[in-house]
Amino acid sequence: MKIVLLGPPGAGKGTQAKSISNRYSIPHISTGDIFRKNISENTPLGIEAKKYIDNGQLVPDEVTIDMVKDRLQHDDCKNGYLLDGFPRTVHQAEALQEFLQGRGENLDTALLIEVPMDFILERMTGRRVCPSCGASYHVKFNPTKIQGKCDVCGSDVIQRKDDGEETVKERLDVYQRQTQPLIDFYKDKNQLSVVDGTKAINEVFESICSLLGSDN
Ligand code: AP5
Ligand code: MG
Ligand code: ZN
Repeated sequence: MKIVLLGPPGAGKGTQAKSISNRYSIPHISTGDIFRKNISENTPLGIEAKKYIDNGQLVPDEVTIDMVKDRLQHDDCKNGYLLDGFPRTVHQAEALQEFLQGRGENLDTALLIEVPMDFILERMTGRRVCPSCGASYHVKFNPTKIQGKCDVCGSDVIQRKDDGEETVKERLDVYQRQTQPLIDFYKDKNQLSVVDGTKAINEVFESICSLLGSDN
């Protein structure tokens, strides 16, 4: 199964992606997570990406597209994958389509987690993430069992640097200008499916599973 997850920052893409990836045994590929890992390791890619991410801007398409194409050729992608945070521009969506066509493959669906803008700020400013295993929490909606410690691996959870209010506003603006057009891009191809992302985390997951069906 090959899935693209769409939705504004804070929609719950990363949260749902973890569950989808377990349920359907496909790798969760988050471009944001790949960039953040490179930033923490101070690689040339990380140094380049950090300039944009810290300001809420998109990393340039040339960098991002090559990185994803490379990742999709790994062995674990043979039976499908879940893309979270890519594509994010029409140019990236076209590049993905070309990549798939070149291999005689198709996307199963572009799944939009729909959340109105007025929900987003609270979700993002309350988010805490685990720098070791990538798990994502929320101080109010999905707290860690022990305060400040990741449920999965016990590391200290932190606030993402780009989750400050000003950067969040910039990211929302970038989303509306550059990523929202992808909704029509996939709608026109009859590949779009939509779930209501304002419900509780487990209810959103149930809607996603009934949409995707039971096969993998
Ligand atoms: P990225 O890491 O992809 O960030 P994003 O798209 O802004 O999305 P988020 O991770 O902020 O939100 P999410 O939808 O995953 O929400 P989450 O599940 O955590 O990208 C970061 C940066 O990297 C970009 O700004 C850009 O610079 C760069 N980048 C990445 N990809 C790129 C690309 N393709 N091209 C160019 N640049 C790129 O949930 C949010 C919070 O809400 C959590 O606290 C969670 O616990 C809570 N929550 C989730 N669901 C619910 C619910 N149903 N009810 C209540 N709370 C909930
Ligand atoms: Mg995310
Ligand atoms: Zn962890």
